[in-house]
Amino acid sequence: MFLNTKDCNHPREVTSASMKKYLFRCILCVLMLIRLYVWLIGYSSPAVSLSDNSEQRNVTILLWHWNAEHARAVSQNMCWERFNIPHCKVMMQDALYMKADVVVFNNLELARGRLKLPMELPRPPGQRWAWMSVQSANNNGKLLGEYGGVFNLTVSYRRDADVIIPYGGFIPRESGDPVDDIPIKKTDLVCWVVSHYKDSFRRSQVYKELSAVIPVKVYGRWSNNLLAPNDLLPTISRCYFYLAFENSIAKDYITEKLWINSYQSGAVPVVLGPPVEQYEAVAPPHSFIHVDEFASVKELGEYLQELAGDAKRYGEYMQWKRDWKVQPSINKEWRVCQICLRYPSFPPHKVYTDLEAWVKAT
Ligand SMILES: *[C@@H]1O[C@H](CO)[C@@H](O)[C@H](O)[C@H]1NC(C)=O
Repeated sequence: MFLNTKDCNHPREVTSASMKKYLFRCILCVLMLIRLYVWLIGYSSPAVSLSDNSEQRNVTILLWHWNAEHARAVSQNMCWERFNIPHCKVMMQDALYMKADVVVFNNLELARGRLKLPMELPRPPGQRWAWMSVQSANNNGKLLGEYGGVFNLTVSYRRDADVIIPYGGFIPRESGDPVDDIPIKKTDLVCWVVSHYKDSFRRSQVYKELSAVIPVKVYGRWSNNLLAPNDLLPTISRCYFYLAFENSIAKDYITEKLWINSYQSGAVPVVLGPPVEQYEAVAPPHSFIHVDEFASVKELGEYLQELAGDAKRYGEYMQWKRDWKVQPSINKEWRVCQICLRYPSFPPHKVYTDLEAWVKAT
């Protein structure tokens, strides 16, 4: 950028026409100076933040006593290498405790008694302890009551957690993305895959009532009709509807039964789990049928039968695929790296004084 400051010097003898011209030029000068100033600021701020970034220290995440199965794919730079999340180091060595910004405790390990909280260790200033769980509230073990005042962060599928790690989500489809075909060869009306069956489960009740109205094909350990992992999706894809019944009913607990078994197979999910609004908050529009939307299971059965016989209305439950695509997020590394991603927005101070109450909230 060049500035001709000479133009701004007032001439000694001027006609009123040239006076106007000079005035105009001076205004231009001022405008250009303002632009130069803005440009300098604009230039310096990214430069400053660039150097900030390159000097920004890494956030160190320590996974406390994760078992080998959980830790298999963990490596120090995985968040950058796999998810493009910068400035994040993931460690598993206890010796780095004093350096860790976040220490992550996996509730499954705590609940099974395989891991104890290192309460005897002093906490370095600013270090946060994170409680991580992907289990539903009722499967979080009996120890929760002892964890008051211990944790600073929750890492959970719950939408009110500090770090939200849902089982899946959906994003807009980009123009180049392939659109999944809607499987048209449907041979079964309703399918269900179940391994744990107890009469007392609400889902068992619904299944019993439903199968009295319409045929329900059952797979899985309970019915002694096991599906090999590779057969799961192709089998479900031949069903008009899939019973995505959660094994436990808890706030925001919506699992791969919806995100993978249903959406990826191309069967319309019939869901039983948290209330319908919680599904609406996370699932693509008009993509599922909620059991609670019907006054009775019998009505639900009749509705499913009707839909299967009406290609147009059935197809409406697949319309979302034109605009959205579903992303199941099932891997543990992704979940850990979300902690780094959220790190800058953590509140400066937070303590879960009653973790049990938080977990059991409905
Ligand atoms: C984390 O929790 C501990 C224990 O309650 C507390 O002493 C500490 O101040 C908390 N730290 C932050 C950063 O919130």
